[in-house]
Amino acid sequence: MFSAQGPIGVFDSGYGGLTILNKFRELLPQYDYIYLGDNARTPYGNRSFEVVYKFTLQAVHKLFELGCPLVILACNTASAKALRSIQQNDLPQIDKSRRVLGVIRPTVESIDSLTQSRHVGLLATIGTIKSQSYPLEIQKLYPDIQVTGVACPLWVPLVENNEFNYEGADFFVKKYIGQLLSQDPLIDTIILGCTHYPLLMHKIRQFTPQHIKLIAQGEYVSNSLKDYLFRHKEIEHCCTKGGTCKFLTTESIEKFQESASLFLSEQIHVNSIILE
Ligand code: DGL
Repeated sequence: MFSAQGPIGVFDSGYGGLTILNKFRELLPQYDYIYLGDNARTPYGNRSFEVVYKFTLQAVHKLFELGCPLVILACNTASAKALRSIQQNDLPQIDKSRRVLGVIRPTVESIDSLTQSRHVGLLATIGTIKSQSYPLEIQKLYPDIQVTGVACPLWVPLVENNEFNYEGADFFVKKYIGQLLSQDPLIDTIILGCTHYPLLMHKIRQFTPQHIKLIAQGEYVSNSLKDYLFRHKEIEHCCTKGGTCKFLTTESIEKFQESASLFLSEQIHVNSIILE
């Protein structure tokens, strides 16, 4: 029996998940959404498994408390380090009728039709690279695809500090792409495996050979959500449809409003919360 009726929860460690939320709202504007950014504790990328899991579970609890029947972890680091434990160990105890989904599986499913050389590159946070989630998922679905990953620890700070459009960013964009392509020159498709990276897209494009496809996740994750809601009517019926979007942050409201304006083209109403 499904009790919760409410908005779709979208969670990220910071602002990156807004790139995913935007695509949800473009493709599925009829639903209500709550975005939660743990801006006070971002970035998650260099944190341990235990810490990312603990923080992510706190966010899921909060979004459930606010009535969300479905929560999307719009963060690769949280999807890599916390999703499985939450789905397998926590959800059955918290509420069997609610769902938590991530962004890695929908991204992985998309690459089969994109790569011809079957050599795929992955750029992501240290946490996502170390977790091996992408190579493991890709191996399960498409064993003939070879994956090479490089961690880009400075890209999230460049985005979060609004330095991504300046020359200083060039050095670190070139550096990580160079590292990746020197490890496997046959790569023809690169997954941008962090929801912050679309903001660096034009710089990444500038320093990547033109024949290489760059995969930003938003489109694939939103298509996958649409498909999921179509296939799971029991969840879809619980998602309220008023077309609204609320924003929550663990940092100050002013800071969120200012930085979120880089990602969003509208004035937003934000509330500050504590996760514990
Ligand atoms: N946006 C998150 C991701 O997709 C990472 C940011 C962070 O390091 O907290 O991995």
